[in-house]
Amino acid sequence: MQEKYIDETKQGEAFAIAEKPENSKKLFLESYGCQMNFSDSEIVASILNEQGYNTTLKVEEADLILLNTCSIREKAEQTVRKRLSTFKDLKKDKPNLTVGVLGCMAERLKTKFLEEEHLVDLVVGPDAYRDLPNLLKETEDGRDAINVILSKEETYADINPVRLGGNGVTAFVTITRGCDNMCTFCVVPFTRGRERSRDPHSIIEECKALAENGYKEITLLGQNVDSYLWYGGGAKKDFDKASEMQKATAVNFAQLLEMVAKAVPGMRIRFSTSNPHEMTEEVFRVIAKYDNVCKYVHLPVQSGSDRILKKMNRQHTRQEYLDLIKKAKEIVPDIAFSQDMIAGFCGETEDDHQLTLDLMRQVEYDYGYMFAYSERPGTPAHKKMEDDVPADIKQRRLAEIIALQGELSRKRMQSYVGKAYEVLIEGESKKDKNQWKARTTQNAVVVFDKLEGQKIGDFVTVFVEDCTQGTLLGKTI
Ligand code: SAH
Ligand code: F3S
Repeated sequence: MQEKYIDETKQGEAFAIAEKPENSKKLFLESYGCQMNFSDSEIVASILNEQGYNTTLKVEEADLILLNTCSIREKAEQTVRKRLSTFKDLKKDKPNLTVGVLGCMAERLKTKFLEEEHLVDLVVGPDAYRDLPNLLKETEDGRDAINVILSKEETYADINPVRLGGNGVTAFVTITRGCDNMCTFCVVPFTRGRERSRDPHSIIEECKALAENGYKEITLLGQNVDSYLWYGGGAKKDFDKASEMQKATAVNFAQLLEMVAKAVPGMRIRFSTSNPHEMTEEVFRVIAKYDNVCKYVHLPVQSGSDRILKKMNRQHTRQEYLDLIKKAKEIVPDIAFSQDMIAGFCGETEDDHQLTLDLMRQVEYDYGYMFAYSERPGTPAHKKMEDDVPADIKQRRLAEIIALQGELSRKRMQSYVGKAYEVLIEGESKKDKNQWKARTTQNAVVVFDKLEGQKIGDFVTVFVEDCTQGTLLGKTI
């Protein structure tokens, strides 16, 4: 299964690659949460590379420890606090050690972080990473440092990310930052600020550089990629105020996707995350037109009940969502979908829950990322609604959603058996060193015996002989 949200027990993976041999200071950088945080960490590593830091996997040898944090659910924040407490002894032994928090928790808690967590010396929000060199000077002088200013423009377009801990084959490229959607349950609009799009030329340049460096797959990243709109700066919602010239030369997401597909024809293109109310037919037509645009869309729905969708401030109905899926399947017959679902949102009844299960059966998702509703301070739901579904009921509904997704995944995997697929080799299978792990365009994981001459980054054709719930079993043909 795709690790969109890296399994919470495995979170906080640290990375190291030799960046600049002349650098003498060591940075230990751990990322939590969504792909955007992992991608942002690559920007942070790049900025600190210029300040004399190379990354290390050994926390004991670090001069600077940074945690790039997530606030999406309470559990994510607890994980970070627990992790911070493990640095206590290190800090005692090494008085010059700086510990900092980046990302969404930094933005949400601001100075409170410095007050609550005495271990933390540095707090930096997602739009303030360029200020890290100045902030570090302050901590070197023994002062706590903080910058949590959100920006309407910052896209880090000119910063060449240091590719961390990857497989050298797949990479993320950020295309939008922030989110203007205001789903009532979600903390992201508060922690990541206003939505803004990155200059398409800098996106294309980054993709081309990845191709030249042997990468084979790019995932275009944003909280809401379908609302991508470049017209020389500013948010989509201010497009009305753009000049005639800006309007005439604007680039939307479908156009950007096509530009990328053409610019790097030897690479696979994926994108995440899509929002149903912004997704257009035009995007599906680009997916259908270009072989290198993957036939897979992550299309979170959150609930199958119109009543709940409305309370969530999602800008689509159940029927509109189902119509979109139907249209997509007409345009791209072999397309696969995955979902995000929230169980037990404020006021959710048993009938609402049944509607969610019913919608899942209709769509037949390949995968799902499913969560129990977790109330987040400051969100519209927290301010105006009651978190009234008891914990045991939330958990039971979530378990039913997960069990149904298991059935659907198995059914979808079975539908791939007996056919041949072009797959991209991403690495070795974790279970068996004699096997490769690869993916189909639909994002299904395939494992198969290695053959002489095959290597990571190769596209090969495999015949799928069998499957488990989450994995296809194949052989090279
Ligand atoms: N557009 C974003 C969504 C970020 S949040 C993206 O790029 O994926 C990811 C998912 O977390 C959401 O789709 C939602 O299903 C879940 N989520 C967000 N807030 C939540 C909350 N308060 N409780 C439970 N799940 C939540
Ligand atoms: Fe959150 Fe909704 Fe945006 S889930 S990230 S507010 S699209």
